[in-house]
Amino acid sequence: MGRLTGKVAAITGAASGIGRATAVLFAAEGAAVVIGDLNVEGGEAAVRECKENGGRAVFQKTDVASEADVKAMIARAVAEFGGLDIIYNNAGLGGALGPLEQISVENWDRSLAVLLRGVFLGMKHAIPEMRKRGGGSIISTASIAGLRGYPGLHPYCAAKAAVISLTRSAAVELGKDRIRVNCICPGGINTPIFTRTQPNLAPLVEERLAQAQPIPRAGHPDDIAKMALFLASDDSEWVSGQAMVVDGAATAGGVAGRQQLEQQGRILPVPPSGFMGPSFEG
Ligand SMILES: NC(=O)c1ccc[n+]([C@@H]2O[C@H](COP(=O)([O-])OP(=O)(O)OC[C@H]3O[C@@H](n4cnc5c(N)ncnc54)[C@H](O)[C@@H]3O)[C@@H](O)[C@H]2O)c1
Repeated sequence: MGRLTGKVAAITGAASGIGRATAVLFAAEGAAVVIGDLNVEGGEAAVRECKENGGRAVFQKTDVASEADVKAMIARAVAEFGGLDIIYNNAGLGGALGPLEQISVENWDRSLAVLLRGVFLGMKHAIPEMRKRGGGSIISTASIAGLRGYPGLHPYCAAKAAVISLTRSAAVELGKDRIRVNCICPGGINTPIFTRTQPNLAPLVEERLAQAQPIPRAGHPDDIAKMALFLASDDSEWVSGQAMVVDGAATAGGVAGRQQLEQQGRILPVPPSGFMGPSFEG
C-alpha cells in the first residue's frame, strides 16, 4: 500500500520541474492526481509518466491566476476521482526581474497574480471539498526567497513571503476542520525555470547551483517532491502552519560560510585552549 493510497491530489505547475516530479511520486504512492498547468504538451507528458509508474492522473489546462480555471481544476478532481484530499499550489515563474524602480505596475501585478493570487485561489476552492472529506492537506511552494532578500527579484520575494504568511493564517483558521496548511521553501533546484529558453544551459546551472549552499550539489525536483509527499501523507498529521525549508543548508548560514571554510580551512582562529571566552578577557 502506498503512502497516499485512496487520496486525490491536485497539483498546479505539474507539467514541469518540481510539480511534475511530485505528481509522479504522488501517483506512484497511490494518489489519483489532477495535473493543472498552462503547458498542455508538458501536462500530457506528465500524465503519461504518472501512468507509466502505475498511477492514475488526468491533465486539466489551468491558469492559476484565473478563478474560473482553478474552480474547474478542483471540479475535475471531484468529477474524475470523487473528491479532493490534497492540493499542491506550486505553479510559478520568475516574474518581473530587475531594479525596483524599473518594474512596471503591469509586470508587478502579473507576477503576483500567478505567485500569490494563484495560491489563494487554490486554497479557496480546495477548502470546501476538503471539508466534505473531513480534512485534507494544503501545500504551497514558497521559496527561500520568501525568507531573505535577493536583488532584482522583488515581486518574487514579496509574493513568496506572502505565501508563507498566508500559510500561517490559513493553518490557524482551518485547524478545526482538520485541514493542514504548509508550504515548502526550496533552495536552488535545477528545473526549466532557469533554462526554459536555453535547455542546453542545464549543466551550467547544475554546476552553479552546486556552489550555492553548504551541501555541495544542486537541488533536484525530487528533493522537494519528497517533502511534499511527507506533507501530503498522514505522517504529517500534526504538522500545520509551517514553512519547511529544503535548501542544502543555504539559509542556515549561506554560502559565505562555506566559502570561508574552503578558503581558510576554518571559520575563526581557534585559541590554543580551544575555548573562546568573554571578549573583555582579551
Ligand atoms: N527551481 C528553483 O530553484 C525554485 C526555488 C524556490 C521555489 N521555486 C518555486 O517552485 C515552483 C515550481 O517551479 P519549478 O522550478 O519547478 O519551475 P518550472 O518552470 O519547471 O515549473 C513551473 C510550472 O508552472 C507552470 N506555470 C507557470 N505559470 C502558470 C500559470 N499561470 N498557471 C498554471 N501553471 C503555470 C509552468 O508552465 C511550469 O510547468 C514555483 O512556484 C517556483 O517559484 C523554485
